[in-house]
Amino acid sequence: MSYNLLKGKRGIIFGALNEHSIAWKVAERAYEEGATFVLTNAPIALRMGELNDLAAKTGSQIIGADATSIDDLNNLVEKSMEILGGKIDFVLHSIGMSVNVRKGKHYTDSNYDFTTKGWDISAVSFHKVMNVLYNKKAMSEWGSIVALTYMAAQRVFPDYNDMADNKAYLESIARSFGYFFGRDYKVRVNTISQSPTATTAGSGVKGFDGFIEYAEKMSPLGNATALECADYTITLFSDLTKKVTLQNLFHDGGFSNMGVSDPVMDKFLGEE
Ligand code: NAI
Repeated sequence: MSYNLLKGKRGIIFGALNEHSIAWKVAERAYEEGATFVLTNAPIALRMGELNDLAAKTGSQIIGADATSIDDLNNLVEKSMEILGGKIDFVLHSIGMSVNVRKGKHYTDSNYDFTTKGWDISAVSFHKVMNVLYNKKAMSEWGSIVALTYMAAQRVFPDYNDMADNKAYLESIARSFGYFFGRDYKVRVNTISQSPTATTAGSGVKGFDGFIEYAEKMSPLGNATALECADYTITLFSDLTKKVTLQNLFHDGGFSNMGVSDPVMDKFLGEE
């Protein structure tokens, strides 16, 4: 259902890789809500070509940018303002990658070149994106910037590896940069801490099937889907949440406040 919540708003959406991506769903919902936006991803991801379908469907242009490159980000922000015809109202950072996970390195035996690269992509890129937007004065007043995160930033999930540390860093950047963005430009900055979701990045986590099933059984409302995450993100881009900033917002069916649930308890008692 559409409510015209983003009518006339201009945005930049990072991280749509394929139809399973959370950013893909955000783009579809933003389009339905009346926004115009630029889609961006790393050049290597663009070579897969799937993003062209989303661009055609939403009447968007695509600009390649490695989110760790300030030069690429400068180009992206300048061109986006040209294409969209003004300052930016909303930005989604939906980017994550651990090289240690990808190469099968255990947390206790990290390769620190991999650690640094994954940290740059998954966390520092958010600082770089905001640095470019801030210094170019590219955000409109009462604009909104959102990044996606996971609860391993606060609690131990052993197989989440160094992404847990990257997410903790990402959430801290949201608060630290969010202060200056709020003070100087009335722009809000938040992170959404999403349930485990079956996407390319999500499924890369070891034992993901068990992980998603456990979260489903622990959460009174069940896991939040990618589309539900997109709906929530749209509210944060809309004018209905103008004074929400510096927050890490759990969107997880209640998981983060649970100790144990009946279905999980039943499973253990049944196995005795
Ligand atoms: P996805 O794999 O569809 O999206 C990750 C995106 O990061 C891809 O589009 C990829 O091309 C992009 N990316 C990687 N390196 C990049 C670079 N150097 N420059 C620009 N883009 C780059 O997976 P998903 O799940 O949609 O991930 C989106 C965000 O949601 C990530 O931050 C992820 O950590 C977060 N998240 C995912 C959860 C899950 O279970 N899937 C749960 C909670 C948060």
